Amino acid sequence: MKILVTGGAGFIGSHTVVELDKAGFEPVIIDNLYNSNLGVLDGIKQITGKDFPFYEMDCNDSEKVRELFAKEKFDGVIHFAAYKAVGESVEKPLNYYENNLISLMVLLRAMTEFNVPNFVFSSSCTVYGQPDAIPVTEQTPRKPANSPYGNTKAIGEDIIRDYIYAKPGVKAISLRYFNPIGAHESALIGELPNGVPSNLVPYITQTAAGLRKSLTVFGSDYDTPDGTCIRDFIHVVDLAKAHVKALELLESESGPDYYDVFNVGTGEGYTVLQLINTFEQVNGVKLNYSIGPRREGDVEKIYAQSDKVNNVMKWRAEKTMAEALRDAWKWQLKITAQ
Ligand code: WQD
Repeated sequence: MKILVTGGAGFIGSHTVVELDKAGFEPVIIDNLYNSNLGVLDGIKQITGKDFPFYEMDCNDSEKVRELFAKEKFDGVIHFAAYKAVGESVEKPLNYYENNLISLMVLLRAMTEFNVPNFVFSSSCTVYGQPDAIPVTEQTPRKPANSPYGNTKAIGEDIIRDYIYAKPGVKAISLRYFNPIGAHESALIGELPNGVPSNLVPYITQTAAGLRKSLTVFGSDYDTPDGTCIRDFIHVVDLAKAHVKALELLESESGPDYYDVFNVGTGEGYTVLQLINTFEQVNGVKLNYSIGPRREGDVEKIYAQSDKVNNVMKWRAEKTMAEALRDAWKWQLKITAQ
């Protein structure tokens, strides 16, 4: 099966291309390289030994997208390509709504026009906002997201749900990611944040590598065991494998209007300080950090109840947070040495 991977040169996209290949799929990558670079394709080639078709293009360009769908007969699409910086989305909301939502609609229209039946959408646990109860299930009510970025994920899910309801010949799954961390064990691909990382783990690895002076832990007065926020940190390779499982589930689903949503998390929550301590232990490094004020918009605690993805999609996280932090550090050392 030939699968279009939009944003396939990105962090989760590149790891998913590797897992698609391992599972016998034929990935085709499109990426506008806004938040990635061609070196990622070299990393993928070193891991897989293959040069997958790559098109540098923007999913918002309807003409280019239709030309591609006319040329390559796809069996499915995994849609990663989107702006994803929470803070930036607050400063530039229209850029986020335009880029993330128009690209989605361009792809959905092309899928119907060219009879491409299977769609996997990259959503996020951010749609839950601060849940009233944890762990969250797929029935946990969504709340207004804390950022335009989070809203584009919630609205994106609604666009897909309503589109599928009209029976356009497309089946779809939305995967609500928790916190992806780590890198491929080969250290040939990993996270490449643009500029100053806003996410925790790349900031930690850059601090440990001496690229940043110190990590600030945003708040230690939350209602948690050590006062720092709780998150469900999932190894990016496990997350990538969930996309393969989603495609396989879609393939097995014959209903013309099949649509479902899955939480993709480990089902365990750890605090920021627990992650920092694990990072120091597993890598034998001392991290320079201090406690600072809370970050505006942060959710206090959230982690997944993962029964549905375990039982229905037959996927479960296999790697531990310690393995992810080991892989993240190995990757940081590799890119710092370059
Ligand atoms: C995790 C925890 C911070 C940085 C966001 C998006 C989500 C997804 C992942 C895109 C929080 C703390 C962080 C730092 C810190 N985005 N932290 N010091 O906010 O849970 O999720 O990124 O795919 O959709 O919402 O991730 O890594 O920014 O923060 O103390 O320098 O680490 O306060 O508690 P977050 P994060």
